[in-house]
Parts: sequence; C-alpha cells; structure tokens
Amino acid sequence: MKKTLLIAFLTMPLGIFAQKSDPNMGIIPAPVSINKGKGEFKFSPETIVLVDSPNHKAVRFFAEYLRKADLATSVTDLATIDKKHLGLKNTVKLSLNFKGDLPPEGYELRITEDNVEIKGNGAGVFYGIQTLIQLMKKTSPGSATIPCAVIKDNPRFPYRGMHLDVARHFFDVDFVKKYLDVMAMYKLNYFHWHLTDDQGWRIEIKKYPKLTEIGSKRAQTKIGRASGPTFVPDLYDNTPHGGFYTQEQVRELVEYASARYINVIPEIEMPSHSLAALAAYPELSCDPTKTYKVGETWGGFDDVFCPTEETFKFLYDVLREVMDMFPGKYVHIGGDECNKVAWKKSEFCRQLIIDSKLKNEEGLQSYFVAKVEKFLNAQGAQMIGWDEILEGGLAPNATVMSWRGERGGIAAAQLGHDVIMTPGSGGMYFDHAQSKSPQEPLNIGGHAPLEKTYNYDPIPSVLNAEQKKRVIGVQANLWTEYIASPGKVWYMLLPRMMALSETGWSPQNGKDFKNFSQQRIPHHLLLIDQAGYNYRVPVAIGSADTTLKGNKFKIELTPSVEGAKIHYTIDGGDPTENDIEYTAPLEFVIPEKGAISFKSIVVTASGKKSVATTIKMEN
Ligand code: ACM
Repeated sequence: MKKTLLIAFLTMPLGIFAQKSDPNMGIIPAPVSINKGKGEFKFSPETIVLVDSPNHKAVRFFAEYLRKADLATSVTDLATIDKKHLGLKNTVKLSLNFKGDLPPEGYELRITEDNVEIKGNGAGVFYGIQTLIQLMKKTSPGSATIPCAVIKDNPRFPYRGMHLDVARHFFDVDFVKKYLDVMAMYKLNYFHWHLTDDQGWRIEIKKYPKLTEIGSKRAQTKIGRASGPTFVPDLYDNTPHGGFYTQEQVRELVEYASARYINVIPEIEMPSHSLAALAAYPELSCDPTKTYKVGETWGGFDDVFCPTEETFKFLYDVLREVMDMFPGKYVHIGGDECNKVAWKKSEFCRQLIIDSKLKNEEGLQSYFVAKVEKFLNAQGAQMIGWDEILEGGLAPNATVMSWRGERGGIAAAQLGHDVIMTPGSGGMYFDHAQSKSPQEPLNIGGHAPLEKTYNYDPIPSVLNAEQKKRVIGVQANLWTEYIASPGKVWYMLLPRMMALSETGWSPQNGKDFKNFSQQRIPHHLLLIDQAGYNYRVPVAIGSADTTLKGNKFKIELTPSVEGAKIHYTIDGGDPTENDIEYTAPLEFVIPEKGAISFKSIVVTASGKKSVATTIKMEN
C-alpha cells in the first residue's frame, strides 16, 4: 500500500433514511397521490374495524393480518351499528361497496387522528389495506401508529405479473404460498406458473398419469453452467430431482392466490419445451421409435410435439383439465424456442405443410398455435404465448408476451393484439445477475441490476396512442435452471420484485430511483428480513465499483438495509464483518502517484452480506 494520509471526521450521524422527508411515505409501489397530514392515528386493542361486507375476502385478509400481527381487534358489520354511533372515533372503516368514482383497482385511504377509512373499487380496498399495512408502525403489543394522510391511488397497468419456473426446479406448495404473499404485498396481480418444460412436468393430469409418473422426475441434473465461460461438460449431480402438484394442491393455491387478488396463469408449453411429456408419451413426438428421457441439462432440445391429430387430442384433454383447475381467463401455451429440427425431418410434417397450404415450418408453428387457440377460445379461455407465436402469422385473439426485447410486443400491438412486456433487455429476467461482481452466485448470465428493472417503461415510444393501450402490463420472469433452493429464489427476486411493482403500478413520470433505492428500499428490506425471507443485500448507498482520479476524496456511505453496518478495508483485502466499521464520512488525501482502494460491504443485523465494492482513488 502506498503511503496515504487518512483523515476521518464525524460530520453526519448514521441511519439517516430520511423517511420523514420521503414524499412517498416509504410506500412501495409509490402511490399516485399523497397529501400528508399532521399527527397520527393510534391503532389500539380498542380500535373497531367497521366493514360493509364482513365476509368479503379483503376483510378476511385484514382480520387475519391483524390477528397474526397481534393487533387483534373486533371486526364489526356496519349494518349492525346503530346509526347514532356512525360518528364513532377510533375506527378503521373499509368501504367495499363504495359506488363513487374511482379508477379500476383504485382506492382512497384517509387517515386522520380520529379514523381511518379505505374506499375501493374492485381490488381497491385490498390494495388500500396493503398500503395501510406498510404505514403501520407497531409501538407496543396490540398497538400501532399510522401517520395522517390522504392517499389516492390506482395502478398504471391492469396486468402486473410475476412468473415462476417450477419445471427446472420444483418448489412446494408452502413455498408458492410465500411467493404469492410477497406478490400481494407489492400489489402484483398475475402469477404466471411455468408448470411444464423439458426438465419436468409438474401438474397432475388425471387422464394421462404418466405425465407425472414419468415426466415429473429426472434422473440427475447438470452441474454448473450448461454453456459460457464456466462451462463444464458432462458433470452431473447423480441425484434424482422431481415433484408435482396434485389437482387438489393446484386448487388450493389458486384459492390462496384469489384471496390476495392474484390471478394464476398456468403455462403448458407447446410445441417445444415438451421433452418431459414425450418421455411419458413418445407417440406424441415425430419419431416414436426413439426413447426420450426427461431433460437433465439446460438449453433447447430438438424433440417437440408433432402436430398430429393424436397430439392435439392429447393437448385438448390436458387443457380441459387445466381450465377446470384454473378459473381465470388466461391459459399460456408457451410457444417459444421451437427449433423445428424434428419437424423438418418428419415426412408427416412435410405432407401437412403441403396439405394445409403452409409456407414452411414457421407456418406449421402458426398452424399449431392457431388450432390450440381456437380450442381455448371455444371453451371461453384466452390464449397467451411468448412472442414466437408471431412466427408465420399470429393467432387471431392471442395475447403476446414480449421477451426477446420489445420487437414482438411492438409488432403485436401494431396488429391490435394485447401485449405484456417482459423483455430481458428491460431488466425483466430475474435469472440474470444483479451486478457484474464475481461474488454473485451462479446464474444464467445477463445483467439486470435493480435500477434497470426500476427504470424500464413498458410502453414503447414508437407506438401510437391507440397501440399504446394494447400494452396491458409488465411481468418479470424467474427461470430456475440455476436456482435450486428457496433461499436463492428470494435472493434473485428481492429487491428486484419491488422495482417491478413500481414499474407496473406507479405513474412513469413520478418515478425516482434515488427516492426508491435510498429512502424506501432500506426499510422494506429490513421488514423482509424480519419476515424471514432471504434477499440480495444491495451495496452501500454511495458506493460502486469505480476509479476516481484526484488527490482529495470524501467517502460518504449509508447502509442499504436499515439497521445494517458497513465494514471496509483500505489495504486491498476483501472486507468482512471483522474489518473496520464505517461510522462517519471519511476523507482521503492521496499523495502524488499514490492510490488507495476502499473496499466495503454491507452486513445486516441478521448476518447477510452484500457483494464487495471497490472505490479506487488514484492521484
Ligand atoms: C423464454 O425465456 N424462453 C420465454
């Protein structure tokens, strides 16, 4: 280490999260409008929750929340209240039958020192409750304070989705419930459940038991990267992996989601990503003489469903059972990454292309998707597919999920189709790394830092006003090739899901990454931590991997999680919790031709650590 003069001085107390000056009052996603008041409402065991629909699911959710938070109080049906008590103080009133003028899913939350009231439209009261919960500060057992304010709020998009791939790795029912819990906290309303893929079929279909008997199990899993710089060929874990949801469990989860105003979209992949199904029923492939096994590695496979009438009968049967389990309007049929190798080799496909007057295999993909869409529409369901369903012509009523950038979404909107934006290029692939640090855990590659997800605007500027309306929302995807445990799911999901929430809900022109990441995220991560979830600890606020030139520097950092500490080294060593604790801004004076590397990490009260960042100061 070069000779360095280090002066540290105490100018600023730590823990300035500036909550008080936060115009968004710490709420994620940021509401449309907030008028802060003076004073606070004191929630106590004497507080009465008054409701106009006592059996409503939003009411049941709130009552359950209060019970679990030890804020037990009575929930009283307004109809049973004597009119003269309507001016009662110390009440929280939920007006579900509000007939006033609020936008879809909108709510109005009024907090005065005397009362709290939430009026809502549709899911609005539920979202008002989520906001209220975020504002409640527990003071003592049974009591909480809520700052006075009037909040008017509604989502920017009707579709705010989060996807989970349970095919590459299986996650059990309790885990999926926790996933839905976090989605609800952040006002996300579509859970896209990727249930089938080459590496596993995860949903019970009674008519085709082999789908789960055979298709839900793989003998082993590839270790390490399937491609790229750390690629290791032919290294497998020798450990079987499997799991599936029974129809009863699916119904239970759909019900659980519905209680949180979350629609569940099942994805049954076709024509590609279907190797697990072919392992169970090889007769659905273009070459039934081959043996197929459930995928043990990642990436595409050449074997796909063959577009025979037998395959369509199978798919319709499967989809009938699926629609019976999922009452929502959408069914996702995948449609992505069908490489057509098997179709090109198939005499049957060649003849089908001629007989059906199709151009080529792209036309066959379109034929396949359109046939399935026709079936779904006839049953009253609406089809969603990845943007490859545009190939060879888009099925008439399809909704397109644009994942390969925005191109597919733009084309679909221009054709008058509904579009959900989920581009990797917009930070919507949560399997991508959250930073370029080598300390990030193994991942599929790509780069989706929090800021990228946060700043993404799902409405492309090239669309005209009418076409813009076809963009019904935004979604982030969590593919699990390299995510085998719940802890790693949470690491990849949080806090990026909070950024997704704001991208889907809050007005674009009010978005402010600094306010989001510095004034709101640190408190939310503390709450997430206390609730027992894992998450990625962001690097200290004010730090980044960077090289600065000059002779005098001031380093001023804030922990990225409330209550966390920052530790640092200046001797080039990797910082640990045993290194010097940062407690106040530091000033460095670097001698001529000198340099110093300031390396820091954030360590939370629960022991979680950020990756290290290095600020190199050179003179
Ligand atoms: C996808 O990521 N293959 C939709």
